[in-house]
Amino acid sequence: MRTPIIAGNWKLNNTISESLELVKGIHYGLTDVSGVEVVVAPTYTAISKVADFLKDSAIAVSGQDVFWEDSGAFTATISAPLLKDVGADYAIIGHSERRQYFGETDEMVNKRVKAALKHNLIPIVCVGETLEEREAEQVEKVVNTQLSGGLAGLTSEEIAELVIAYEPVWAIGTGKTASPEQAEEVHQLIRNIVASDFGQEAADKVRILYGGSVKPANSKELMSQPNIDGALVGGASLKADDFLGIIKNI
Ligand code: PGA
Repeated sequence: MRTPIIAGNWKLNNTISESLELVKGIHYGLTDVSGVEVVVAPTYTAISKVADFLKDSAIAVSGQDVFWEDSGAFTATISAPLLKDVGADYAIIGHSERRQYFGETDEMVNKRVKAALKHNLIPIVCVGETLEEREAEQVEKVVNTQLSGGLAGLTSEEIAELVIAYEPVWAIGTGKTASPEQAEEVHQLIRNIVASDFGQEAADKVRILYGGSVKPANSKELMSQPNIDGALVGGASLKADDFLGIIKNI
């Protein structure tokens, strides 16, 4: 059995006080919930305060990215040891916004994943096609390339521990969600790719989240698909009630 994960990616939103208000709303709303891992990824200015608040909570903290070097002359980035230092357990890697606006490549994703694993951070590795690529029937090719580049050189044991997020770029922040069938088709494809590259056991264990305009109204159907093991939520994770609704739906 794979324990589902609902992860909230706050992106570039919320001051420290807004972040604390949001995380308190989530924490106190979660009292009767079990069987699901809940993760929040605040901004770097708020992450330490949020992690302090969550110290005795079951909610885990994630970085929104992680650099591959531990320290040194690398202005404006964040490393795995620094994320561990604030109490983070996860790191989102290769989000489409990083790929689109910051030139992230699969090779960089791969280096980040290795750095995260080396320091016991669980990578949430994002893959997904653009609308153009979907219309050109390139979904399989794109996802395959992103996975083989991003996960190159990892062991089956490492793959079993990490998390993959399928986030069709055309569904992120657009209000357009992949239908449960469309999403399930790609999730199955991802699991098959993992099985052929890393073995069936890793494929059975790796958790594959769906991301892209997930909200309480559509999450139940998406999350009930056999190969969808949770969600990476952007916009709807900024409102405690919506995020709690998604968590409770699972
Ligand atoms: P969204 O973002 O839920 O606002 O579409 C998802 C994501 O980017 O992880």
